[in-house]
Amino acid sequence: MKTPVPDYLQHVLAACDQNHKGALADYIPELAQADPNKLALALSTVDGTIYSTGDDEVEFTIQSMSKPFAYALAIRHHGLDVVLKKVGVEPSGEAFNQIALDKNTNLPKNPMINSGAITTHALLPHQDGISRAEKLRQFLSELAGRELSFDDAVYASEVKTAFRNMSIGYMLRTVGALDEEPEQIVHGYIQQCAIKVTVKDLAKMTSVLANGGVQAETGKRILSRAVVRQVLSVMMTCGMYDAAGDWLSTVGIPAKSGVAGGIMGVLPGQVGIAVFSPKLDEHGNSVRGVEIFERLSKDMGLHLMEGTPSAQTIVQRRYTCGVDNQVVVYELRGVLQFTESEMLLRILQNEAVEPTQIVLDLTNISLIHDVGERMLFEGVDRLIADGHDVVVIDSEQILQQGRSHAGHDVVRHEELEQYLQHFA
Ligand code: DON
Repeated sequence: MKTPVPDYLQHVLAACDQNHKGALADYIPELAQADPNKLALALSTVDGTIYSTGDDEVEFTIQSMSKPFAYALAIRHHGLDVVLKKVGVEPSGEAFNQIALDKNTNLPKNPMINSGAITTHALLPHQDGISRAEKLRQFLSELAGRELSFDDAVYASEVKTAFRNMSIGYMLRTVGALDEEPEQIVHGYIQQCAIKVTVKDLAKMTSVLANGGVQAETGKRILSRAVVRQVLSVMMTCGMYDAAGDWLSTVGIPAKSGVAGGIMGVLPGQVGIAVFSPKLDEHGNSVRGVEIFERLSKDMGLHLMEGTPSAQTIVQRRYTCGVDNQVVVYELRGVLQFTESEMLLRILQNEAVEPTQIVLDLTNISLIHDVGERMLFEGVDRLIADGHDVVVIDSEQILQQGRSHAGHDVVRHEELEQYLQHFA
C-alpha cells in the first residue's frame, strides 16, 4: 500500500494553483524578479518524516521566517528574562515594518515585527570573525540537516533600499534598545533574512519545534521545551502581524510568514508545515500560502483550539492474580497527561479500598508528561499511606526518572513474578 498523504498534498496544491491574486514584494527589488507561479508545500511529522510536493527543491529567502528562530537562539543564549527586558510579547496589530514602540515600555512590542526582530538580532551570539547572521545560519543549518547559504543578491538589494529598517534601527538606538551602531545591526538582520531555504528545509526546521525541541533523526535536544513554548506562543499571537486574529480563528496554527512568499506553521506534537508562493496580500503574507493553510487546517482538523481529544479510558484492563487473587493489576494505555492522570487517580480512589497489592503496568503507555508522572507517583504514595503495596512496571523506560524513582518500586515486566513472590 502507498500512503495517500502525498496524493492529498498534491490535491491541495492543485486546488489553489489557479489563484493568481496578490503582488510580489517590490520594496526589495530583487524579490520583484521572483517567478510568481512557483508553488510548493511540505509537511513534516514529529518523527521526522517529510512529505513534499510542487516546487519543493526551489530555494527562496527565509525573510521574516528567520525571526522565530533568531528569538529561540537569543533566548537559548541569554535566558528569557534578559530577552524580555529588550523585546515584549504583545501583538502590535500593526504592519510588520511599523516605525513604532510600545507606548508604555518604550520597547518593541514583539520579536516578529521588524523593530523587535532587529533588537533580537543584536542579542544573537557572535564572536570574533563569526557574525550574528552566520551564527544563525549555522543554527538553521543544524535544524535543516544541511548547510544553508546566504543569497548575496537579495541581501545587497535590500541593503540598498533599507530606509525603513534603518529608521527603525536609529529609533531603537535612541531609546537604548540597541547599544551598537544601528547600521551594523540592521545589515546583520537583513543578512539573516537572506538565508536561502526550500519548503523541505522549513518543514525539517518546524518539525523540531513541533517535537518540543528534539530533532527526531538525531535524537538531539536542540531547544528546551520552555524555549519552544515561548517561541510558538509569540508566533501564535504575533506571527501573522495585523492578520493574526483572523489567522488564529480561521487556521489556528502558530505560524510565521516571509515576504519572499514562504509561510511556516507548527502544530505542537503533530506537524510542521511549510508553503511557498511568492505573491503576497496586503499584510505581506503569501496569498496561496494562506489558502493552503486554511484548507489543511480544515481538512485535517489541525486547528489548535480543537484540542486533542483525551483518551476515553486510561485503564485498558484491570485483573487480579496471585495466591487468593490478592494482587490487583491495572494495565494502563495511551498518553498520561493531566486529564488521564486525574481519571486514573479517581479510579484508584474508588476501587482500592481494601489494603492489597497493586500493580500499575505502564507497558502500553506511549507518552507520559511531567504532570502525569508527578500525579502517578502522588497516587502511589497515597496508596502506600493507605496500607497498600504498590509496584510500577516500566518495561519501556518511559518514566523520566527511570528506575531510580525516589523510593518507589519500579520493575520491568519480566521481574514482576519474582517481585510478587516477595509480597507473598
Ligand atoms: O525586513 C524586511 O522588511 C524583510 N527583510 C523581511 C520582512 C518580512 O519578511 C515580512 N513578512 N512577511
